[in-house]
Amino acid sequence: MAAQQNNIPQHVAIIMDGNGRWAKQRGLQRIFGHRNGVEAVRAATETAAKMGVKYLTLYAFSTENWARPQLEVSSLMSLLVDAIEKEEPTLNKNNVRFTTIGNVPSLPEKVQQKLAAIECSTQKNTGLTLVVALSYSGRWDIVNAVKKIANSLIAKELEIEDVNEISISKHLSTAQMPDVDLFIRTGGDVRVSNFLLWQIAYSELVFLPVLWPDFREKHFAEAVEEFQKRERRFGKVLEE
Ligand code: IPE
Ligand code: IPE
Ligand code: MG
Repeated sequence: MAAQQNNIPQHVAIIMDGNGRWAKQRGLQRIFGHRNGVEAVRAATETAAKMGVKYLTLYAFSTENWARPQLEVSSLMSLLVDAIEKEEPTLNKNNVRFTTIGNVPSLPEKVQQKLAAIECSTQKNTGLTLVVALSYSGRWDIVNAVKKIANSLIAKELEIEDVNEISISKHLSTAQMPDVDLFIRTGGDVRVSNFLLWQIAYSELVFLPVLWPDFREKHFAEAVEEFQKRERRFGKVLEE
């Protein structure tokens, strides 16, 4: 069965997990798994663009991932720089707009420069928006939103009655995006690991056993097909 064209999720978010295990299975160091994960990022981006998904949010580095061995962290940072350089022409060719969420100022200067450059060179693209979550966590996002709202309250730009789901959403890093429709995690673990929290309130969750470096178009299609089988009720009773 192929995915139906009339029910494509607008916003897909993926926890790209399993790189370390992929490398370990081959007797390699974890970083080889990360390196081979770049091909899967390309496959996910191209498939999402082809299917007509509007937003693809990829969890690349969590707030908690800073606690990994220093060598792994620095290798991930250089891999990011290399991948951006390499993928930039393809993103532009495919009309993909690149953006990030997360604590970008906490990233190395070199990474920040590359991110700014690719955001700038792809900002006019009108197809898929590729959102890479870097030094991101759902709780970080919520804490930030609370701080911004508190400041606006103190400055009397906002009244307490104006604090509601809409205004909170507008202060999150995903302010410009719709809520997540389809949430995918590869690697077989069934948990959310502090990825988008507020934004997945009514997402359909799909957990796939495939390790991230092996993720390809067929896995994406499988997740979308699963999404299309689900009945989204949003707490209501659907008419018979
Ligand atoms: C996900 O793969 C990539 C990042 C967190 C950067 P992991 O590195 O977590 O791989 P496993 O889960 O240990 O296999
Ligand atoms: C989540 O995976 C973070 C990313 C994929 C970037 P982790 O491997 O860090 O999460 P846990 O440790 O399994 O919860
Ligand atoms: Mg992991």
